Amino acid sequence: MPDLSGKVAWVTGAGSGIGEAAALALAREGAAVALSGRRREPLQAVADRITEAGGKALVAPGDLGEPEAAAKIAARIAKEFGRLDILVNNAGANLVERSWAKLTPERIKFMIDANLNSAFYCAAAALDIMRPQKDGLLIHTASWAGRFVGIVPGPAYIAAKHGVVAMSYSINMEEFQHGIRSTALCPAEVATPILNLRPKPVSAEERAQMIQPEHMADLILYVAKLPATVCLNEIVISPTWNRGYAHLAGLGPSRT
Ligand SMILES: NC(=O)c1ccc[n+]([C@@H]2O[C@H](COP(=O)([O-])OP(=O)(O)OC[C@H]3O[C@@H](n4cnc5c(N)ncnc54)[C@H](OP(=O)(O)O)[C@@H]3O)[C@@H](O)[C@H]2O)c1
Repeated sequence: MPDLSGKVAWVTGAGSGIGEAAALALAREGAAVALSGRRREPLQAVADRITEAGGKALVAPGDLGEPEAAAKIAARIAKEFGRLDILVNNAGANLVERSWAKLTPERIKFMIDANLNSAFYCAAAALDIMRPQKDGLLIHTASWAGRFVGIVPGPAYIAAKHGVVAMSYSINMEEFQHGIRSTALCPAEVATPILNLRPKPVSAEERAQMIQPEHMADLILYVAKLPATVCLNEIVISPTWNRGYAHLAGLGPSRT
């Protein structure tokens, strides 16, 4: 019997990268999975793979940076599946124009909406379902940039991801009494489409040395399968060949 059968998971940013790998892995383990992101087409492709393998999927698109979207999707999940056990709060974005000199009010708003506000809206909507269940797990894809300040990710991304880590800890402080746990994942470089927005292009060789989306999916499964009495507050994970360290050691080029 798969460990997650009977569970319901909501994965945001599920059409690509880490979210896609996580959705497929959770479904393989028996969870019914709701899939969110702005574009319907990639979500439908992931849903088709899940249903073809005998799993259950709900395509629930939306711009999660919009204040109303998360609550509407959560209501759909509750109606369709009757509960919500796991939120993989993973949607996020970056811009090529990310340095202070290139930030405009529109770009700042885009970044905070996509990376911090969306995570808050989804967490709040999920908690409303989980609290009466007296059970629930939230897993947020923050970032290495949510733990350490550096140049490469850009100030709005760094600030938003620090906010996601703080948000996750605050959930544990208040919601433990309702049987709810929250985990902040802080990965360094993962080989996904978000890297296509780096001001300095990233080669195929460099991507091959990074964490792969499937490694993140394995980690998410590990967290999801922990006993309900165990709360993993934060996980910081990087490739062994950490390009930031390699540059500091004089063993690799600058990433900027
Ligand atoms: N790759 C890395 O090196 C790395 C490292 C640390 C943390 N992360 C974080 O990991 C998470 C997943 O990213 P990824 O690396 O897998 O890259 P990705 O493939 O670009 O995935 C990001 C996903 O988020 C969705 N998304 C973006 N803005 C959204 C919005 N406003 N509303 C709903 N969905 C939205 C995108 O789908 P649509 O475009 O269809 O909306 C996309 O599927 C992100 O939070 C990212 O910041 C990545």
